[in-house]
Amino acid sequence: PVSVYPDPMKASLAVAQRIADLIKSKQAKGETTVLGLATGATPVRVYAELVRMHKEEGLSFKNVVTFNLDEYYPMQPDAVQSYVTFMKENLFNHIDIDPANVNIPDGTLDKDEIQAYCLDYERRISAYGGLDLQILGIGRTGHIGFNEPGSAPNSGTRLVTLDDLTRRDASFDFGGKENVPTKAITMGIGTIFKAREIILMAWNQKKAEIIKKAVEGEISSDVPATYLQLSANVEFVLDADAASELT
Ligand code: F6R
Repeated sequence: PVSVYPDPMKASLAVAQRIADLIKSKQAKGETTVLGLATGATPVRVYAELVRMHKEEGLSFKNVVTFNLDEYYPMQPDAVQSYVTFMKENLFNHIDIDPANVNIPDGTLDKDEIQAYCLDYERRISAYGGLDLQILGIGRTGHIGFNEPGSAPNSGTRLVTLDDLTRRDASFDFGGKENVPTKAITMGIGTIFKAREIILMAWNQKKAEIIKKAVEGEISSDVPATYLQLSANVEFVLDADAASELT
């Protein structure tokens, strides 16, 4: 299903509320909530609202485990552009999550360690009983996580090569495309698909064209997000601009 909100703020508040409700309902049963998280501009207001709920309403993340979708490779965790830094600044530094419960792909591995690490990332998700809710943005290539065009629907966590458009879109953060890593470690389409609920968010006119393809286009590895059409557990949460080309 597709939900359209008048602006990104209203949409973000609704998504944050769903996350909070999930955490609280599982907490009430003494259960852990396993969240799959995204970085980038899209989820920033969702995380800000979760921080507000923690500070003002006592929402606790003590029983929350998180798995981030991806990290650039190579990438030092303390670099300003790392997704570790992003998550700390936007969420983890401001809530009561146990650092041991935070999982973000490691951008510092040696090449020959990556395959075993990725299998272990999958194993860790499974050991917690799988992802309860996966949050996604979408890239202009149609990527989810860093599953660029050509990614297989059953792909797992792995090292991938970033699309040229993705590196161009990241060039501002890195002070030039030449400084953007060419690779990343990402959860696969198959990893994402195993989540019990998936919310893909998109705001602004610049996402309207890819949202039309993702929601209404032919299912194809050319636009990896089209695979989400095959899942009954996906909700596309859009603002009016991102939804503006939908029929
Ligand atoms: C980030 C991720 C990416 C982004 C996508 C959109 O962890 O996996 O798929 O969600 O590139 O980025 P923004 O939100 O910056 O437009």
